Amino acid sequence: MQNKVLRAFLLVFAVALMAGMVSACAAPAAAPAAAPAAGSEAATTEAAAPAASGAPVVGIVLPTKDEPRWIQDEARFKDLLGTAGVPVEILFSQGDSAKEKANVESLLTKGIKVLILTPQDGAAAAAAAEEAKKAGAKVIAYDRLILNTDAVDYYVTFDSNAVGAAQAQYLVDKATGTGNPLYLYAGAASDNNAFLFFEGAWKVLQPKIADGTFVIKNSSEATALQDKAELTRDEQAKIIGQITTNWDFNTAKNLAEANLTVAKPEDKGNVFILAPNDGTARSIADTFAADKDVKSYVVTGQDAEKASVQYIIDGKQSMTVLKDVRTLAADAIAAARAFVDGTTPEQTNTYNNGKIDVPAKPSAVIAVDKDNVKAAIIDSGYWPATDFTGVQ
Ligand code: BGC
Repeated sequence: MQNKVLRAFLLVFAVALMAGMVSACAAPAAAPAAAPAAGSEAATTEAAAPAASGAPVVGIVLPTKDEPRWIQDEARFKDLLGTAGVPVEILFSQGDSAKEKANVESLLTKGIKVLILTPQDGAAAAAAAEEAKKAGAKVIAYDRLILNTDAVDYYVTFDSNAVGAAQAQYLVDKATGTGNPLYLYAGAASDNNAFLFFEGAWKVLQPKIADGTFVIKNSSEATALQDKAELTRDEQAKIIGQITTNWDFNTAKNLAEANLTVAKPEDKGNVFILAPNDGTARSIADTFAADKDVKSYVVTGQDAEKASVQYIIDGKQSMTVLKDVRTLAADAIAAARAFVDGTTPEQTNTYNNGKIDVPAKPSAVIAVDKDNVKAAIIDSGYWPATDFTGVQ
């Protein structure tokens, strides 16, 4: 019964969406949504139906507009609004858990049935998820897991361990001989992904540190643990505490500068750098490039941000990991639709969040460097060729 009413309600909104009547509620802080896709079923069958109201059925809360990664997610969600079939509102938390909670509360007040949340801080977000649960909304953790609560119904994500492993494997493949200087950097300790990325990287790097291929230069905690193939969460936390960029470009730059200031010339030369994502990679790469004792560097990244794709083309960043946000956003919308329709989204895995095993569907990732940048990024339609110079 409830489902019938909800479906009727959704149909009216789908029509309103097609008519562009609710586009203004998507991402109020940004440009209006792209024109809805023409020719969808709802548009052709019920085009004349009046819109009941612009209230969102799905609320999306993303972490910050300060990183291109999340602006991209917003854009990819907007591309999907025409096919979502439900009104969607997108809000940003600007790196602030209190704002994130206020965003969630405001969406709940508007009556959302599904919350898609990328937590700024995985543990702090539990309170907002629990409020959503109390209000009867389903909660989808988007890209980052919400920790230590049973109020998470689903997790759409990339295979984050595979991201770290791909970064590490790239460094291993480029290294020859022994004694190669290795500089480690990580994401924010408040983000569960930072642990998953590091865990994936450590599994690949550790044997190559143990056999002398690499020598860690910037973390005494990592050096102290270098003979351990598998680290506990506490051990990872100790290392991440020393090498965190907090996902912030300036923090990354300052940390790299501090590391190079104390490093001796013989700790530099041809260096290998595990950088956790593209924004931090560009800061760290620029810092290493400016050091006269650094002869060459191999640096990793992740996200295939446009600026980093250009850096790869220009030889200033070695690789990135493409996480196709089109897939992630589509999976999130499909899961939201399933919940709205009273069904269960597709599940292939579970992730333990400290309290429960959260049903999930991780997507594959692709390592990208100069050799496959054209095929993986441009020919695949991920970014247009016109956004770059020097593509061959
Ligand atoms: C995401 C990355 C992103 C990073 C910083 C992580 O949780 O998975 O794609 O670069 O956060 O925002």
